[in-house]
Amino acid sequence: MTPSSLAASLNPGSTIGILGGGQLGRMLAQAAARIGLHAHIYCPNPEAPAFEVASAQTIATFDDREALQKFARSVDVVTFEFENIPLEAADLVSEQVPLYPNRKALEISQDRGVEKAFIKQLGLNVADWWPIDSADDLANALTQCAAPALLKTRRLGYDGKGQLALDQNSDPAQAFEHIDHQPSVLEKKISFEREISVVLVQGSPNQIDCYDLPCNLHKNGILHSSTVPSGVPEKLDQQAKDAAMKIAAALDYRGILAVEFFVKEDENAPQLIVNEFAPRVHNSGHWTLDACSCNQFENHIRAVAGWPLGATTRHSDAQMTNLLGAQVLDWFELAQHPDVVLHLYGKAGIKAGRKLGHMTKISPIGAKIQTN
Ligand SMILES: Nc1ncnc2c1ncn2[C@@H]1O[C@H](COP(=O)(O)OP(=O)(O)O)[C@@H](O)[C@H]1O
Ligand SMILES: [Mg+2]
Repeated sequence: MTPSSLAASLNPGSTIGILGGGQLGRMLAQAAARIGLHAHIYCPNPEAPAFEVASAQTIATFDDREALQKFARSVDVVTFEFENIPLEAADLVSEQVPLYPNRKALEISQDRGVEKAFIKQLGLNVADWWPIDSADDLANALTQCAAPALLKTRRLGYDGKGQLALDQNSDPAQAFEHIDHQPSVLEKKISFEREISVVLVQGSPNQIDCYDLPCNLHKNGILHSSTVPSGVPEKLDQQAKDAAMKIAAALDYRGILAVEFFVKEDENAPQLIVNEFAPRVHNSGHWTLDACSCNQFENHIRAVAGWPLGATTRHSDAQMTNLLGAQVLDWFELAQHPDVVLHLYGKAGIKAGRKLGHMTKISPIGAKIQTN
C-alpha cells in the first residue's frame, strides 16, 4: 500500500481512521462495524459521541503531531467526519496512510469564497457574491447587490452559524464588527422555491452512484427535515445529479459527497443554484439509514476501503426530522411509534439547537407520509 492511494480493498478486520467524533463519526463507526471493519476515532473532545461505538480512540487536538502520527500508523486508511480538519493535520496523516476524500476536496470546502469560485468555474450557477475583507468592501458590495443578502464568514460556519442577514439599510461597519472582522463573503439572498441536495458516492473512478434527492427544509439556518421523494421534476432531478457528479469528477473524489442546491422559479424552467458542497456524509442523507439498501455511512466506508459500492436503491418513502435540543425529550413517545425509526446520538447535555438525534418516518413507496 502506498501512502497516497489504496492499492487494494481492505480486508474485514482492517481499521478505518476517522478524524472527528461527532454524530457523523459515530454513525460511520457503526457502519464500519456492520461490515467487519474497525473504526479508530480521533477527536479532541473526551465526551465525543463516536468514542463509545469505536474499537479505538485517540483523545488529542488536531495540532498534536505526535498523536496524529501515532494514529496514522495504527490505521489502514483515514477519512473525516467534518470539513474543518486543519490541512496540516490532514497532510501529516496522509504522509503515512491514504486519506479519502482527498486534500483538494477538504481545502476547497473550507473556504466559501474558494468553493464558490471553483463551482462557478465548472459552469454551474452560484448566488451572486462578493469577497469581504473590510467594512468598505461590505459597503460597496451592499450597493452592488441592491437586494437582501447574507454575510457569511468564509471559514468554520455550520448550521447557519457565522451568518448575518443584511439589506441596503444595514450599517456595514456594525455588520462587519458583528462577525468579528473575519474574512467573509456577501451573498445575494435567493428567493428559492425549495432546497434539495444530492448525496452521491464515488468509489473507484468508474464507480459512482447518487441516492434519490431529498427536499430539505431549514429553520434558522439548521436542517429541520429531509423528505424523499423530493417532488422535483425528473429533468431538474437529473440536472442536479449531473452537477454533483461534475463536482465529484473535478475533485477526483472518493467517498460520500453532498451538494446543496436552491431551486428557483424562473419564467421558462426552474433554475438550479449550487449553495455549497460537503466532502463527507451529510445530514440530508440520514434517511438512507432506514430507507435504502446500503446507507450513506456504509457506502462512505465501502468507498474509502476500496470495496464495491452498495446499492443506493430506495425501498421506502421517508421523512427525516432532526431532534434539536429539548426535542430529544420526546424519545419515549417517538420510540412507541411503529413508523418511526429513532436515532439518538448519546450526547451529554441538552443545549438549544444542538443536534441530539433524528427520527425517520418511513412508509411504503407511494403511500403518503403522515406529517404532524
Ligand atoms: N444565498 C442564500 N439565499 C437564501 N437562503 C440562504 C442563502 N444562503 C443560505 N441560506 C439558507 O441558510 C441555510 C444554511 O446556509 P449554508 O450556506 O448552507 O450554511 P451552513 O454551512 O451553515 O449549512 C441554507 O440551507 C438556506 O436555507
Ligand atoms: Mg448548508
